[in-house]
Amino acid sequence: MRPSDIEILHCPRCHGSLTLTTLDVENGNVVNGVLRCPACSKSYPILNHVCIFLTDAERDALLSPEEKRLATALCPGGEGLEGLPLDQRHTHAGRNWAYQFADAFPVDRRRLENIDGFWGETAFFKFCGLDKGAMADKTLAVFCGGTGREAWHLCRTGAQRIIVLDLGGHIGCLPALLAEHLDKLVLIRCDVMRHPIKSGTCAVAICDHALQHIPDYAGAYRAMAETTVSGGLISICVYSFENNWPMTHVVEPAKRVLHLLPVQALRVLALVPAGLIWLYQTVLCGSVGLVFPRLSAMLPWNQLFSLWLRDGFGKIWEACFDLLHAPVSYHFNQTEVANLATDTGLRVLSLEMVNKTMWTMVSEKV
Ligand SMILES: C[S@@+](CC[C@H](N)C(=O)[O-])C[C@H]1O[C@@H](n2cnc3c(N)ncnc32)[C@H](O)[C@@H]1O
Repeated sequence: MRPSDIEILHCPRCHGSLTLTTLDVENGNVVNGVLRCPACSKSYPILNHVCIFLTDAERDALLSPEEKRLATALCPGGEGLEGLPLDQRHTHAGRNWAYQFADAFPVDRRRLENIDGFWGETAFFKFCGLDKGAMADKTLAVFCGGTGREAWHLCRTGAQRIIVLDLGGHIGCLPALLAEHLDKLVLIRCDVMRHPIKSGTCAVAICDHALQHIPDYAGAYRAMAETTVSGGLISICVYSFENNWPMTHVVEPAKRVLHLLPVQALRVLALVPAGLIWLYQTVLCGSVGLVFPRLSAMLPWNQLFSLWLRDGFGKIWEACFDLLHAPVSYHFNQTEVANLATDTGLRVLSLEMVNKTMWTMVSEKV
């Protein structure tokens, strides 16, 4: 972040203004420093370009020993956001996603540059339902964007500033992944419900492939809407209830047992569905497609699986692992998605099914 980006942040505890003390600055970007709220005397460290707005308990559960040491050195009182009980589902979420995206299947340039792959630009703009040309000179916020996928593509739209917020430690990989764009980025590590972004600062708020993983998804949606200006856009892409019966009726109930296993074991176990999907996609859909291309497009989940396959077997494996380990996964029917916007007083601009398994909705703050 630039020191001037402090204008869009406030204390998530009391909404007081923050002051910034910088310790290391590189090319005008704050690497390490402290954000302090004089009103409530809380301080929040900035570690390796990432502002840490975790509660005390989240810091304890989620920061690495090195991060804890640095955080304590920068904020000796150890003050985070105190007094909030630790939600075990958040701790699992923070740890599991960080294991997926920083250790098991790290996000790299090769995946992001594969324009027609799952991680590529075409899929991103299809998922978020936004017009690439409309992002120029705007302040954008990506909720739950710790993979850097959204930020990577948004950095290439001429956007003025991109705020990326995530609970997981994988957000710490973004300074290296997005090194050429650090001057545009504000990286924040926090729970989506306790973010420090001031109301009415963003032209667009995006939450892609993530709202279904937030226990209070309606509260998170409201929090997103609050950060946008009047006339601003809120984009979400969530799992659909429709066409997802293997998830809603098999995988989700099975998680009661599966989640007794460590996340590393689930990664290995994910090879089983991944192998079956690979066979289905290459052998069945592939051969039907050669003879009856129109019929193959109608085969169940062909659209989604063929998108995964564009990044090879590794993406299918990763997707299966993702679906197995996610601590919380809600599947929305069409009405529930629309209600998120209307209950928040927003106007729905578009609500479309993507790849027959996700709902993409863009709404406007009126
Ligand atoms: C399936 S991943 C999607 C990541 C990214 N949006 C993408 O599509 O590439 C879900 C993301 O939500 C984040 N997340 C889950 N619960 C969260 C919470 N309560 N607050 C903030 N981020 C959260 C995870 O850490 C993870 O990065």
